[in-house]
Amino acid sequence: MVETSLVMRQAGRPNAMELVSSSSSSGEQEETSYYSKDFVWDELREEIEKDPSLAHHLLPFTSTSTSTSSPPSTHSDSCSGSWNSFHRRHSTGKFFKERRYLLKEFPDLLRGLDTLLELGCGNASSVLPILRANPRITIYACDCSDRALEIARDTVRSADPSLLSRFHTFLCDFSRTGLPRDLGGVDFVTLIFTLSAIPSQLMLQAIGECFRVLRPGGVVLFRDYGLFDMTMLRFHPSKRVGFREYVRMDGTRSYFFCLDTVRKLFGDAGFLVVQLEYCCVKSTNRRRGKSMRRVWVHGKFQKPL
Ligand SMILES: C[S@@+](CC[C@H](N)C(=O)[O-])C[C@H]1O[C@@H](n2cnc3c(N)ncnc32)[C@H](O)[C@@H]1O
Repeated sequence: MVETSLVMRQAGRPNAMELVSSSSSSGEQEETSYYSKDFVWDELREEIEKDPSLAHHLLPFTSTSTSTSSPPSTHSDSCSGSWNSFHRRHSTGKFFKERRYLLKEFPDLLRGLDTLLELGCGNASSVLPILRANPRITIYACDCSDRALEIARDTVRSADPSLLSRFHTFLCDFSRTGLPRDLGGVDFVTLIFTLSAIPSQLMLQAIGECFRVLRPGGVVLFRDYGLFDMTMLRFHPSKRVGFREYVRMDGTRSYFFCLDTVRKLFGDAGFLVVQLEYCCVKSTNRRRGKSMRRVWVHGKFQKPL
């Protein structure tokens, strides 16, 4: 898995740039320049559709395409096992960098006295910058991995113990069991690289839970892997577990979203689309001289008033 910190996209300044550090799956540090509109997504799509070596990514999925080594994409396989192992392996909590760019991408987070629910909080890389930047926000955060929750609390505590009074965690696989019934009226839900980890057949009900717990007018802030992201194109055909859906070596899953799929999922759950776009970023590993094209989906969805 390659995960990157990044990106300043500022209205009217499409090429605003930030120099950041990101880590690759090998743990190696890369100094990388990020731009938000480095390339046009449709041109990337055309290139990929013409490349015979990538044709397997475009084929419809049938269950016979699944390798015997891949876990079945059924409703019964729980996410907590593979994610617990993942978080144990990355127990320093440093695998995902602090996502400070979220404050620029979603300036609503700095607005005022709000409650936010972060779904799939991992090691707190999204919540920590928000807690620091907005002293009036209270964050509820869940994860299906109890190890992730321990790491998240430790990360927040070591950054600043006083932040813990505004940070409340609970164990929950919200795609299967739903969110606690007594949770409701929250101003924001953040879904940051979490929906892609949920089997596609459970996504609509997971988004339905976001809708249920938001107050009218509340919003979901969404960021996740986009269709034809470099990490998708690196998956071996045997790792496909669904259409645009893959399983990694460690058993965690990743779906790659096109805008239409995201629009339909949130629309079917009752949301209004406020923002929805690809973020296309060319990052360069200067040491290796390799350029990588990253694609993310950025979205903001509102529960009607
Ligand atoms: C890629 S990490 C993203 C973590 C965090 N949102 C961030 O911005 O860095 C995905 C997280 O979602 C959690 N997760 C995956 N499926 C989940 C589910 N169904 N319910 C709750 N958490 C889930 C995983 O344990 C993992 O911590």
